[in-house]
Amino acid sequence: MRTICVAVLALFTALSMLAKPFEHGIIPEPAEVVKSGEGTFRLQRGTPITVSDNSVAFEARYLADYTDRYLGIPLSTAQTSAKQAVTLVNANNGGTPGGYRLTVDAGDGVRIEGNDATGVFYGVQTLIQLLPTRAGVVPLLPEVSINDYPRFGYRGMHLDVARHFFPVEFIKKYIDYMAMHKLNYFHWHLTDDQAWRIELKCYPELTQRGSEREGEIFGLYPGKYQELPYGGYYTQEQIKDVVQYAAERHITVIPEIDIPGHCMAVLATFPQFSTTPDETKKCALTWGIFNKFNNVLAPTPEVFEFLTKVFSEVCELFPGQYIHTGGDECAKKWWQESDLTQKFMRKHGIEDEKALQSYFVHHVQKVVEGKGKTLVGWDEVLQGGISEDCVIMNWRQPKHGREAARTGHKTISSCSGWSYFNIKESRRDPVIGAGGQRGLPMEKVYKFQIVPDSLTNEEQKLIIGAQGCLWSEYIPTTWKAEYFVFPRMSALAENVWTPEEKKDWENFARKVERQTERYDLWGARYSDAFFRTNDISRYR
Ligand code: ACM
Repeated sequence: MRTICVAVLALFTALSMLAKPFEHGIIPEPAEVVKSGEGTFRLQRGTPITVSDNSVAFEARYLADYTDRYLGIPLSTAQTSAKQAVTLVNANNGGTPGGYRLTVDAGDGVRIEGNDATGVFYGVQTLIQLLPTRAGVVPLLPEVSINDYPRFGYRGMHLDVARHFFPVEFIKKYIDYMAMHKLNYFHWHLTDDQAWRIELKCYPELTQRGSEREGEIFGLYPGKYQELPYGGYYTQEQIKDVVQYAAERHITVIPEIDIPGHCMAVLATFPQFSTTPDETKKCALTWGIFNKFNNVLAPTPEVFEFLTKVFSEVCELFPGQYIHTGGDECAKKWWQESDLTQKFMRKHGIEDEKALQSYFVHHVQKVVEGKGKTLVGWDEVLQGGISEDCVIMNWRQPKHGREAARTGHKTISSCSGWSYFNIKESRRDPVIGAGGQRGLPMEKVYKFQIVPDSLTNEEQKLIIGAQGCLWSEYIPTTWKAEYFVFPRMSALAENVWTPEEKKDWENFARKVERQTERYDLWGARYSDAFFRTNDISRYR
């Protein structure tokens, strides 16, 4: 009887140990984490990383580089058959892309088995998050068993490099930050009223003339104007380098060439492409959409030829599936006031200016699809009708995202009220940012419901993910870019990765304090608004 009681008690203790939630600092929260034992595995100088095959050789180097660079612990990437190793296995098993299993065993070491190389990379990111957040702390990895996979196929971050320019070195850093959050699409907003920042061989004038403005305002608009020329652009070599750098980190780069509005940099270069061809023009010097100043592309044969050449070359430079055409905030008054445009519309049976906007987008879509790619546009491209194959990026109210899904479009949620990180995190923060009196707290980013309940099951499947955006009107420096994206990028990452039923705001709020130590480790700035405006002791 006594033996039975002891056995039952032991079983009970073991079960309650298993059931006890295992506190860890992994962001985004994995689908399943089980504490599998009480032991630890110590990662140390020279611990070997072995790989199943060459497809994950980069992942081994990446891990070795991370532990060396941030923790001062170089691991060995020389292939050995040692136990007590970090073993990376590409199972190539056709399972959910990006899925992986990670086990830590005190005797055998760490094993990461990915459904594909991307899964191995994400397993490595999780392993990194089991490591200390400071150099000098001995990395004792707890015995765990993790099974993980992404909720959405599209997990993006956007960066506007037109309003302010960021050097390639920072673009790579931004990509690294994304990789460390298991985000997989970098939306590179390369052109706007203020600048054209991508070198194209078909029109070299675009970067010769369109990449510089005469000055800019500083401070909140209308602010003060300073007459310092401001410019910069990316050469094709740099772009290829960034694309390759991102691909190694399992991130696809989506270039955005914004047309038919947001085009003053094009019109500063080629005024003849506007509805007022005889007037010289400048790259925009301030922010916002100004009907009065910012002209748009006119529907002429030269402009359509321009679009064909530009998007063809862009398709060649970016190997990913998606090409973004903008399509947002096009001021229709220029078309309404232009006799030539009105004549064009009558001739082609285009009933209004919204339909003319669609005509432009359709033209680009044909070019892009001719290259085997898929077009993405901001949600205004729905206005005049657009074919189902165009992916819609919902930046205005969620109702436009619902409309996109209901009309059969794959849809990416990027609603300004939940995912525009250029809006200050706390409206009380004295730093200059967008959003007026509004703030966008981290909790709102975390809790944003990406898939609306009101859609049918079939429509819900068309919501392929979500994205955070960083528009750079008020972000002139790299430190400010980091300050505005962190910690909200971490909240977004968990929102797009973690199964909905596993999302837990209280647990995330606890983890994010540890995450700030990682930002420190990486040398990244971050906003502490959350910590100043909340009693965070309640999350600990
Ligand atoms: C946008 O914010 N105009 C896409």
